[in-house]
Amino acid sequence: MRIMRGSSSSSVWFVLWVGLVVMMIGETEGGRVRHYKFDVEYMIRKPDCLEHVVMGINGKFPGPTIRAQVGDTLDIALTNKLSTEGTVIHWHGIRQVGTPWADGTAAISQCAINPGETFHYRFKVDKAGTYFYHGHYGMQRAAGLYGSLIVDLPKGQKEPFHYDGQFNLLLSDLWHTSSHEQEVGLSSIPFRWIGEPQSLLINGRGQFNCSIAAKFINTSLPQCQLKGGEECAPQILHVEPKKTYRIRISSTTSLASLNLAISNHKLRVVEADGNYVEPFSVDDIDIYSGESYSVLLTADQDPTKNYWLSVGVRARKPAIPGQVLTALTLLNYQTISASVFPVSPPPVTPRWDDFDRSKAFTKKIIANIRTPQPPPPPYSHRRIVLLNTQNRVEGFTKWAINNVSLTLPATPYLGSFEFKLNNTFDRKPPPENFPSEYDIFNPPVNANATTGNGVYVFQLNEVVDVILQNANQLTGKGSEIHPWHLHGHDFWVLGYGEGKFKAGEDEKKFNLTHAPLRNTAVIFPYGWTALRFKADNPGVWAFHCHIEPHLHMGMGVIFAEAVHKVKNIPSQALACGLTANNGRHN
Ligand code: C2O
Ligand code: CU
Repeated sequence: MRIMRGSSSSSVWFVLWVGLVVMMIGETEGGRVRHYKFDVEYMIRKPDCLEHVVMGINGKFPGPTIRAQVGDTLDIALTNKLSTEGTVIHWHGIRQVGTPWADGTAAISQCAINPGETFHYRFKVDKAGTYFYHGHYGMQRAAGLYGSLIVDLPKGQKEPFHYDGQFNLLLSDLWHTSSHEQEVGLSSIPFRWIGEPQSLLINGRGQFNCSIAAKFINTSLPQCQLKGGEECAPQILHVEPKKTYRIRISSTTSLASLNLAISNHKLRVVEADGNYVEPFSVDDIDIYSGESYSVLLTADQDPTKNYWLSVGVRARKPAIPGQVLTALTLLNYQTISASVFPVSPPPVTPRWDDFDRSKAFTKKIIANIRTPQPPPPPYSHRRIVLLNTQNRVEGFTKWAINNVSLTLPATPYLGSFEFKLNNTFDRKPPPENFPSEYDIFNPPVNANATTGNGVYVFQLNEVVDVILQNANQLTGKGSEIHPWHLHGHDFWVLGYGEGKFKAGEDEKKFNLTHAPLRNTAVIFPYGWTALRFKADNPGVWAFHCHIEPHLHMGMGVIFAEAVHKVKNIPSQALACGLTANNGRHN
């Protein structure tokens, strides 16, 4: 039990009593508590047929899939079995309403869990959808700390589409250098970039050096054979002719933007980030780190053949010119054996720099019109414009937002607010805009930025517009894609545009009727993306680029929403920094 501070004892008892009543109602409504025990450790595995040290859970890589129903409470006892470093796990896409301390972000919602210690995440899953979880401390996601989290509708409730079976594909990328080596390189002078991944993984399985579609066809390397048994052998999707399958796809890549296609088959997109979208059919889908989709596939092709499913890298230039890194698996019509080699070649990944194609796909995603989804509030109270630039801070290469590169404080923000500590982070909020003369089409005139850890503070229910503004890179010509992910919320995507955002003109084009709800949205090269959300979830939330090395280089901001309303933070979340003593410090 934590020690109560400050407030009068009668109000404390009232809060406890309300809490108890709410808990009891929760139980009688049928929400189950699902208990999990997660041991996080390093393991030696062969995810791409070569041996690597990866992070796993309970001896598994990727970690176990969590499957729950809307209304359930997940109780996950996470034990840190690493010998020399802390850990946390973030439940990506879960809004953590009422439990911001369970968001699993080190230095933001909690202290990193020390080696040997156990932390209890306890939170409710309140929306059906395809989600995942991953490490959120240092670069532990790149090290392999991730798994799937799927929330089903309660029994008796129906999805707005039909399917006979389902598959789940968690996509990731793998390097042959350790995440520690990557981390050190990123914060060295001279700067050392991590480079492109060596392999792509589907459910933790890939085949180094034969995952390149062009090579695959005539290779005799043992890891390129589609035989089962080996831990790197692909999981094959077995389908019955004429049946329809829901394929859940999420991307927890460290860097890669991906495209997924199945030869001869159409994919019907029905879900994005746990929200139903207006269904549309395509030959392939783009998926950025932090995003998830459900697509429907009908096994309506010649059932005497098998077909390739291919996942390839987009939006970044291949390490070897012309050779797109891909991962392959097989769609097997159960009418024939899975060892029958497909006659048609794997689908070719669209050109990496065909951004018009990427934009066309992204813009197809709008809210489902037959399910009740709230449209965005018609206006916002506040607009924050965030310029994304690459900069230098004291010779180090960084990413900065409005010229501030995020460095996390030693004391978690949530605890700093809870205990009203004034000197644990920059109390001056970061800038809400950038100088109007900034030229987004050229390298910065003055490349120097500063580091900082100030927060944007929002009142309860404030409606906030965020304009993410992309710009030219540090040197030379070019502008990268960044998938931005918001914790604690889904936001409405109001629109995408080219060049510098023009307030009066561009906001007239906002989609206020069918704006899709998402938790991740991309900014395209030299473009802007407009988002709207309501600050109705008290807590401290990260909003950042989901490319792991970019976040590590400072590409993120912190939102604090009505934090005084946060109640019952378990003391074990705050056992570090200046909150180690329940906020009593000298
Ligand atoms: Cu999946 Cu803060 O990220
Ligand atoms: Cu980025």
